[in-house]
Amino acid sequence: MSNNERWDFAKGPEPLIHRIHNYPARFPAFIVTEALSYAEEKGVKVKTMADVFCGCGTTAVEAKRNNKDFWGWDVNPVATLITRTKCGSYNDEKLEKHFEKIKDDFSRIRISKKEIEGVHARIRYWFHDEKIRDLLKLRSAICEGISAPSPYRKFFLCAFSNILKPTSRWLTKSIKPQIDPNKRPFDVIDSFEHQFNQMRKATKNNPVAHNYNPVIRVCNGNFLATRPTDPFVDLIITSPPYVSSYDYADLHQLSLLWLGFLQDYRELRKDMIGNRYGVNTVENSVMSKLPKAAKGIRDSLMEKDQHKANAVAKYFLDIEKSMMKCASLLHRNGMAVFVIGNTEYKGVEIDNAGHLESCMRSTGFKHIEKISRKMSLKTLTPYRDSIGRFTKQTGQKEVYAKEFIVVGQKR
Ligand SMILES: C[S@@+](CC[C@H](N)C(=O)[O-])C[C@H]1O[C@@H](n2cnc3c(N)ncnc32)[C@H](O)[C@@H]1O
Repeated sequence: MSNNERWDFAKGPEPLIHRIHNYPARFPAFIVTEALSYAEEKGVKVKTMADVFCGCGTTAVEAKRNNKDFWGWDVNPVATLITRTKCGSYNDEKLEKHFEKIKDDFSRIRISKKEIEGVHARIRYWFHDEKIRDLLKLRSAICEGISAPSPYRKFFLCAFSNILKPTSRWLTKSIKPQIDPNKRPFDVIDSFEHQFNQMRKATKNNPVAHNYNPVIRVCNGNFLATRPTDPFVDLIITSPPYVSSYDYADLHQLSLLWLGFLQDYRELRKDMIGNRYGVNTVENSVMSKLPKAAKGIRDSLMEKDQHKANAVAKYFLDIEKSMMKCASLLHRNGMAVFVIGNTEYKGVEIDNAGHLESCMRSTGFKHIEKISRKMSLKTLTPYRDSIGRFTKQTGQKEVYAKEFIVVGQKR
């Protein structure tokens, strides 16, 4: 394992476009530009990039900024909405016109008590009635004022999505969904205006390429269920979910419900890598296919918590499948760069990075390197307190102080 400082810290500030919507476990944008230069130094001719777990689109945005075509997948519709929004091109005057119209319509629309009472029970749990009323007005103003295929509609729905937590009773910055009884939620239209201004500024400062207009394709779905026929990308840059890290269904429940993506937000877990859904159905014959080290981790966990042990085994199997799929996407000598951290459960270290590396070996990769990187953003707040909030205080539960860049080339 090597350490190479190029992966540790960004050399300059990140373009604002990366920060228009919160997303858990987003990686810093410079990782993508470093990976791209690294691949080119190693002789990879990069025309098309991919991120098979694209999250909020960090790789997609950087691909576009660097004139590369892009393919992305994410099972979470909130993730693909953000990615598509960030990769869109907008006319500033049109943005302003739409915004003024939304504000006008908002002040005209009336919502009845019955409509407030008719919203999803989870929404009523998280929001005060007057916020539900205002959010219903705002959503109608966006959806009735801008037709469905328009990128502007996505833009404003993305803005809507990012104001849901501040306008709700959700405990700020907590990774465990819980009500903050002392919170005074923000005003809906003020938050929306603030969010709009941030996004508008970010899109103005995100110049698009002049000499080439890259093709950006973003698919909402389970990457493991895709059927790539021919290799079609030169460079994959991605970060798979860590075993038992974030529960995106829980964390994005407000957006999933308000935007009508799912009636039961928990269904999102079904296709997620590393989820615990259906782990009891993983058969022993399948488990026996795990690489030796992974089996060792599963056995150590078995002594502590059987359910957890099976969940981790399933995660390891999913990662192996992902590696096979990644290999099939890549042209010969194409490169894959994975950003991944290790986790721990009841004293057992879960070596996600080691497992990924061993899967790369068995699924057709060569020149594999595992590089340790210091985490530039989270080093500021690497601990979590008892209710799951990030904190700088030592003595609390340490989360991820370092992570790994695992790189390989397709044979
Ligand atoms: C660590 S995040 C990626 C963050 C991303 N690198 C960024 O900067 O925003 C992992 C992503 O994998 C997605 N994911 C989990 N299982 C998936 C699957 N089976 N197919 C596609 N995406 C999946 C999650 O929804 C999540 O957005």
